[in-house]
Amino acid sequence: MKDKVLFFDTTLRDGEQSPGASMNLKEKMLVANQLEALGVDIIEAGFPISSPGDFESVKTIAQKIKNSSIAGLCRASQKDISCCWDAIKYSKKPRIHIFLATSDLHIEKKLMMTRAKVLDSAVKSIKYAKSFCKDIEFSAEDAGRSDMDYLCKVIEAVIDAGALTVNIPDTVGYTIPNEYGDKIAIIRKTVPNINKAVISVHCHNDLGLAVANSLAAIENGARQVECTINGIGERAGNASLEEIAMALKVRPNYYNIQTSIKSKEIYKTSKLVSKLTGIAVQVNKAIVGANAFAHEAGIHQDGMLKSRDTYEIMHPADIGVPESSLVLGKHSGRHAFFKKLKELGYKLNDKDSLSLFEKFKVLADKKKVIFDDDIVSIAEENAASTKEIFSLNYMSATSGTGTIPTATVRISKLNENNKPAEIIQEAACGVGPVDAAYRAIDKATKMDITLIDYSIKAVSSGEDALGEVFLKTKYKGLIYSGKGTSIDIVEASAKAYMQAINKAANMSKAQ
Ligand code: KIV
Ligand code: ZN
Repeated sequence: MKDKVLFFDTTLRDGEQSPGASMNLKEKMLVANQLEALGVDIIEAGFPISSPGDFESVKTIAQKIKNSSIAGLCRASQKDISCCWDAIKYSKKPRIHIFLATSDLHIEKKLMMTRAKVLDSAVKSIKYAKSFCKDIEFSAEDAGRSDMDYLCKVIEAVIDAGALTVNIPDTVGYTIPNEYGDKIAIIRKTVPNINKAVISVHCHNDLGLAVANSLAAIENGARQVECTINGIGERAGNASLEEIAMALKVRPNYYNIQTSIKSKEIYKTSKLVSKLTGIAVQVNKAIVGANAFAHEAGIHQDGMLKSRDTYEIMHPADIGVPESSLVLGKHSGRHAFFKKLKELGYKLNDKDSLSLFEKFKVLADKKKVIFDDDIVSIAEENAASTKEIFSLNYMSATSGTGTIPTATVRISKLNENNKPAEIIQEAACGVGPVDAAYRAIDKATKMDITLIDYSIKAVSSGEDALGEVFLKTKYKGLIYSGKGTSIDIVEASAKAYMQAINKAANMSKAQ
C-alpha cells in the first residue's frame, strides 16, 4: 500500500496572521467547512489563548466539524494548554499543538532561557497536555536554524513524553530544499524512537522555497505537511496546500504517495479564502492563479487544439474549475439556477436557494450574461452576511465634470425582529461619489468609523462585470472589514461600507 501524507491546514491560524487577513467567526466557519470538504486531515483552527474571539471560533469549529481533526495552538505553558483544551475538547478528534523554539537565537534572545530549560519545559508541557488529550503535536520553532544534535535530543525527549507528531518548522523560510530534506533524513536516522511519531514539516516562503522544501521533506520521510490555502501566512506566507497536493497528484510515479485531498474542491476553496480574507491570488500563481490554465502564445494555442497535454500537465477540471464559464441570463428560471448552484458545489436549503435566486434575478436585470464567478460571488456574499442593524434602502450618487459629487442615502435602523424601527435620510458632498456616499452613510448611522483600506476589482469578465469592493475600517480601535459586489461600483462600495458598519455596530451592541 502507498504511504500517506497527512494534510494539516493552518489557513485559520498561520494564514490568518497575514496582515489584514482576519476573519470573523462566521467566515472562519465557512472556511472550516470547506477545508473539511477538501479532505484536510487536520484543521488548525486558531490560537485559543490569543484572544476571546479566537477562543470562540476554535470552540465553534471544534463543535461543528465532524471528519477532520481540530488542532489548537499553544505555547509550552500550563495556562495556554488548558485554555487550548477548553476550546478543542468538543472535537471528535482534538489535537493540542504546543510550540517552543529550539534555535540558540530564539532561546537566548527571545525566550532568555537555556537549552536545558527549553528541553525540560518542552517535556513538562507535553506531559501536562497528555493529561487532557491523546493527540499531541510538538513544534520545535525555528528548527530550520537549530543545532541538529540539540534538535534531535528535544525530539527524542518529547516523543518519550508522549508527542505523537513532531513538527520541524522552517519558521523563517531560511533553508534550501536539499538541506531541509537532509535534516529530515538525519532526524529519521538518529532519533531512536522516531518510529513512534509522525514527522511533520511547516515551511515559510521567505525565499520562495516553502513548497520545494516541503516536497523535499516528504521525499525524506515526512508524513505530515502544514500548509495554507493560496499560501497565505506570516510575511511571505506558508507552503501552499494546493501546490503540494497537485505535485503529489500530478507526479504519482515520482512520489508514490497518497493523500485525502479532493483536488476538485481546490478552486472553490481558493476562491473562498481569497474572498473572505481580501487577499487576491496573484494571476500567475501556480494551480489557482487566473492565468494558470490560460494559453496566450499562438504556438501553445495550436498545440492545445491538437492535444491538450502538449502544454497542460493537469486539466482545469482536476482542481474543480467549472468547465463552462458562460451560464445564465435574465430569462433563466429557478431550476436552471438551482442546477447551476449545485454544479458549483453549493448545497443550500430551499430558503437560502430562493433568496439567492432573488439576488440573481436583480443582477440578471442589470447584466446581460451571468458568469459562474458572478454566482459564486453572490452566493458567498450571502453566506458571509452579517446581521444587519442598519440596512441601506436607497442610495443615489452624482458626479461629473464641474459638479460637486453628492450622495443621498436612506437607511433603516432595524429592531431585534429585523423590522425597521427608524428610517433616516441624509445627503452629503465628497471628493468623489464613493466619498460622498460614505459621508452620507456616516451621518445617517452616526457611527464614527474610519476607512483605512479600500480596493476594487472585477469579479467576472466583460464591460458589465461585477465590481467587488473590499475595505477595512477602524472603529473604537478595532478593525472591521467589509465586502460588496455590484455592477455599479458606487453601490458595491456602499454595500461593503455598510457591512463593515454592521459588524462594528454588532460588536458595540455585544459589549
Ligand atoms: O512558523 C512556525 O514556526 C509556526 C509554529 C507555531 C508551528 O507557525
Ligand atoms: Zn508558521
